[in-house]
Amino acid sequence: MLGRYMQHSVLVTGGAGFIGSNFVRLCVLERGIPVINVDKLTYAGNLGNVRDLEQKSGYSFLQADINDGPAIRDILRKFQPSAIVHFAAESHVDRSILGPDEFIQTNIHGTFQLLEEAKAYWNELSGTAKAQFRFLHVSTDEVFGSLKPDDPAFSESTPYAPNSPYSASKAASDHLVRAYHHTYAFPTLTTNCSNNYGPYQFPEKLIPLMIANGLSGKKLPVYGDGLNVRDWLYVTDHCEAILQVLQKGRIGETYNIGGCAEMTNLDVVNTICRTLDELRPRPDGTSHASLINFVKDRPGHDRRYAMDIRKIRNELGWSPKESFATGIRKTVSWYLDNSEWVESVTSGAYRDWMRTQYAGR
Ligand code: NAD
Ligand code: DAU
Repeated sequence: MLGRYMQHSVLVTGGAGFIGSNFVRLCVLERGIPVINVDKLTYAGNLGNVRDLEQKSGYSFLQADINDGPAIRDILRKFQPSAIVHFAAESHVDRSILGPDEFIQTNIHGTFQLLEEAKAYWNELSGTAKAQFRFLHVSTDEVFGSLKPDDPAFSESTPYAPNSPYSASKAASDHLVRAYHHTYAFPTLTTNCSNNYGPYQFPEKLIPLMIANGLSGKKLPVYGDGLNVRDWLYVTDHCEAILQVLQKGRIGETYNIGGCAEMTNLDVVNTICRTLDELRPRPDGTSHASLINFVKDRPGHDRRYAMDIRKIRNELGWSPKESFATGIRKTVSWYLDNSEWVESVTSGAYRDWMRTQYAGR
C-alpha cells in the first residue's frame, strides 16, 4: 500500500488551512507524496501557510470551492489522484454560533458535492486504480457531544449528539460519507479527532489566540469558569495518523484520534503564560497570567471531550509522539519565531472578528 502513495498523487481539500497545510507539508516534503491542494482561500485559508511548498516538484495549488461541482470535476479529470483527503470546512465553533449559514453550505453541501464528483470519478476508474482509490473524510470529536467528568472517553461506537451548528454540520457530513460507502460501496474512511494545536493555526482558536494576545499585552479571554476540558493533540501527530489511516485503514471504517492529554482551559492558558514568561518575559516583570480575564461563557459550551484511541493504536500502530509539554513549547516558540505570519493574518477582517466576538463580553 505504501508504495502506491509514493507514486500517485493525493488531492487535499482545505490544504491552505491549519491542519491541511501541515498535512500537505508532511506528504510533499517528508514522504515524497505528490499533492494537489484545492482550497477556496476563505479568511482561514492562507497561501502563506504553504509558501515553502510553492516551488517544490509534486505540489500544485488550485483555488476552488468544493461546492463548485464542474471545477472539482475538471481537477479530478486533469490530475487523476489516487486518493482524496477532505479537510475543507468552516471550523470555528464561535463563528458557527454567530453565523451558521457558511457551515451548512461548506460542511454539508460542499461535502455532498465533493462526494458526488469523487464518486463519478471513481466510477470511471477501472482495475487497480479503482480498487486502490480512497476518500478520507477528516472530522471531529465534537460530533459525539459533551462528556460528564467521570464518563468514559468517546469511542467509535459512541452515539452522535452534536451540540453546536459547527458540530451538527460535521455530523451531517460524516453521515453523508457513511451513506456513500453503504449505498454505493464508495471507498471511504473517516477520522474523528480531538483539538489540534501547533504551527499555522489561525489566532481565533484558544491556543494561538492566547499566545498572540499574550505577546501584545492584551487580555486573555477565558470563557465561563475555565474548567471545560479538551484533549489536545499536536498537529503533526494528527497528520501522521491520517496518513496511517489512508494507507492501512479498513474501507468504510471510522477511526478516533486523540492526544491522551485532557486539560482544563485554565491549565492550558496557565501553561502558555509560564512558557511565555520564560521565553519572552514582560518588560515590567509581571507574569502573562495577570492578563487572564474571565468572560461570558460560549452558548451551549460543551464541558468535556476525551478520545478512546485503542482502535487506531491496536489496528494501525499509531499513537501520539508529542506530549502537551513538548508540543506547547514547540508551538509557542513557532509563534515567537513567526511574528510576520501572525501580523499578516491578523488583518482588518481579523480585528473586526475580535471586536464582534469579544467586545462587551
Ligand atoms: P481551518 O479553518 O484552519 O482551514 C479550513 C480550510 O478549508 C481553509 O484553508 C479554507 O480556505 C478551506 N475552505 C473552507 N471552505 C472551503 C470551500 N467551500 N471550498 C474549499 N476550501 C474551503 O481548519 P482546520 O482547523 O485546519 O480543520 C481542518 C479540518 O479538520 C476541518 O474539517 C475540521 O472540522 C477538522 N478538525 C479540526 C480540528 C482542530 O482542532 N482544528 C480537530 C478535529 C477535526
Ligand atoms: O474538538 C475538536 C474541535 O476543536 C475542532 O473540531 C474544531 O474545529 C476546533 O475549532 C476545536 O473546537 P473548540 O471549540 O474546542 O476549540 P476552541 O479553540 O475554539 O476552544 C477551545 C476551548 O477554549 C473551548 O472550551 C472554548 C475555550 N475558549 C476559546 C476561545 C477562542 C476560551 O475560553 N476563550 C476563547 O477566547
